[in-house]
Amino acid sequence: MDRSQDLSSALREMLAPGGVWELQPTVGSLLSSTLACLPKGNVSDEERRYPTTRAGLRAFMDGFFARHYFQVQDSLVDFFASPAFSAILRRGTMHIADVGCGPSVASLGILDMASAAMSLMNGGFPGKCPLTVHIALNDSSEVCLSEGRVLLDRYSRCGPNTVRVGRVLPFSTPFPESLLQLRRIERMTIPYDICCLGYVLIPLSEKMGVGGTAERFRQLAQTGNQAGGQLLLTQDKFREGLLRSVCWALGVSAEIVDLEQRVYDSQNQNDEQTYTYGRSCSPVTVLRGSGAALSVA
Ligand SMILES: C[S@@+](CC[C@H](N)C(=O)[O-])C[C@H]1O[C@@H](n2cnc3c(N)ncnc32)[C@H](O)[C@@H]1O
Repeated sequence: MDRSQDLSSALREMLAPGGVWELQPTVGSLLSSTLACLPKGNVSDEERRYPTTRAGLRAFMDGFFARHYFQVQDSLVDFFASPAFSAILRRGTMHIADVGCGPSVASLGILDMASAAMSLMNGGFPGKCPLTVHIALNDSSEVCLSEGRVLLDRYSRCGPNTVRVGRVLPFSTPFPESLLQLRRIERMTIPYDICCLGYVLIPLSEKMGVGGTAERFRQLAQTGNQAGGQLLLTQDKFREGLLRSVCWALGVSAEIVDLEQRVYDSQNQNDEQTYTYGRSCSPVTVLRGSGAALSVA
């Protein structure tokens, strides 16, 4: 077995002991203290999924935060054990575009996984410590964006000392109009190591159709790091058809995956539950290279 496989298995065992994903203490306490500060209220299903109010955000965090967070980590384990992450460590900075970020779900998952991977390297990693992570945070909902900033700020203050939150650039311009800002940031800094699009396929495809969404994702991929940068899509299993259509138009594969997790919601903190989700995690170079099926409606 090679070193990457060893590191990947060790990282998986650290974040999901015995195959069950659970929150590490820092993010676990950030989640519970955030839930305690947000107001409870009856909100519609739409508001729970795409929050625009603090009560909606509470419902989202209660029901979806941990689930989506684990899905990001589960999807990126191999990346954190790959030579691309070693190159990031040598550089000393990591750059993320988190589009439809909600309360910084993917960014927090990535920060905590970077620190877990570094702790497994036992001080034997190349480059500087701490690793500085710069984040372009994009969400059309102001309430998500502002809570996302607060969470990153709090993670920075109470999180591990191996990883530091660098510049956080939040903007509420809806995607794909936000591509201009995302591109500008990439040109002013360096290309993104990870572009995340977590659970935004439904509103985006309603706005632009499958072909338009795929084309905009391809444009986002053009802002990614050609040497190992990844584009990650996550979506629930109920929209498998939509995920597969967008991925087909992009010329990349999609998969449906089971994930067992310790449930984190205000109803039941101790249960284990299996969730099934859809994902596509591909090197940005694959998306740049393929010209497949842009005409799909
Ligand atoms: C279901 S939440 C997912 C949040 C997070 N990415 C996750 O995986 O948990 C979808 C988010 O996408 C945002 N959103 C919807 N349409 C958007 C658009 N056109 N541009 C940017 N954000 C958008 C919503 O405000 C919401 O916060």
